[in-house]
Amino acid sequence: MATNHKLILGNCMTMEELPDRSVHLMVTSPPYFNAPFDYKGLFKDYGQYLGVLRNFAQETFRVLQDGRIAVLNIDDMLIDGEKFPIVADATKIFQEAGFRYRDRIVWKKPDGYLRISRRSGVILQNPYPMYFYPDNLLESIIIFQKGKFDYRSISKEVRAKSKVDTKEIQTNKWYMTLWEMNNVMPGSPLEKDIAAFPEELPYRAIKLFSYKDETVLDPFAGSGTTMKKARELGRNSVGFEIKKSLAPIVKKKMGFGEQATLLQNNDKLEIIIRKSGKYGPIR
Ligand SMILES: C[S@@+](CC[C@H](N)C(=O)[O-])C[C@H]1O[C@@H](n2cnc3c(N)ncnc32)[C@H](O)[C@@H]1O
Repeated sequence: MATNHKLILGNCMTMEELPDRSVHLMVTSPPYFNAPFDYKGLFKDYGQYLGVLRNFAQETFRVLQDGRIAVLNIDDMLIDGEKFPIVADATKIFQEAGFRYRDRIVWKKPDGYLRISRRSGVILQNPYPMYFYPDNLLESIIIFQKGKFDYRSISKEVRAKSKVDTKEIQTNKWYMTLWEMNNVMPGSPLEKDIAAFPEELPYRAIKLFSYKDETVLDPFAGSGTTMKKARELGRNSVGFEIKKSLAPIVKKKMGFGEQATLLQNNDKLEIIIRKSGKYGPIR
């Protein structure tokens, strides 16, 4: 069956284009609070950042169908020697929006991942007490659920065609709360200046938490990694992205670029530029 995809160029603080209970899964990685490389000075203060998470949680709760899942790739952020407890705060915010906190998975990057964090050098240069700052190889994947899922609501046919390969679960150790996945290499052409997550992350989330032909939402679409995997896995998708300039990247990443005709199916990508609404047109 052909799949449909919508990239809405607008602020996801309101997802006014989406009716209540219209999506089956949300997978995203929100902007990191003033991350030194990617988002330096983006938010006025931590309170403003938490306000963004609150809006996003409430809108996600509204548009998700009952029983469905929200997956966030997020992590605490170290700025000028102070760590901001983003995972704990986001968990509380999602609970306050009505979600049940279902699980936390730790994503471990390869040992050589040192792009942002090179702090361990301090103790090696000064091998004395009080100079220890570890390198961070971990991020969190936190999972929330809107009430309880009714397993009987899915037909036998849809269940059968959405079956997850148990060999893949076992071989790649999806069954643990530790997921070892490579990060996107800094400087990858399609993800340049975008803090993209690896395709493996939405791939696992989509397979584990949605059925074929359902709709997956990514409110912070970036380069469109979630949308790409949704398409490949036979799901529809909706993405919001505030940066209009990323539309061609999403299009290309999803395979709707020049080679689109080679794909031989009727999948569609619609790009919508928001003109009105509470948060107005994008700048
Ligand atoms: C961490 S990146 C997401 C990267 C994405 N997971 C990928 O693999 O490419 C966050 C994205 O959210 C966008 N963004 C930030 N605030 C937004 C908002 N209020 N509404 C919509 N998009 C927003 C940023 O422009 C950025 O592209």
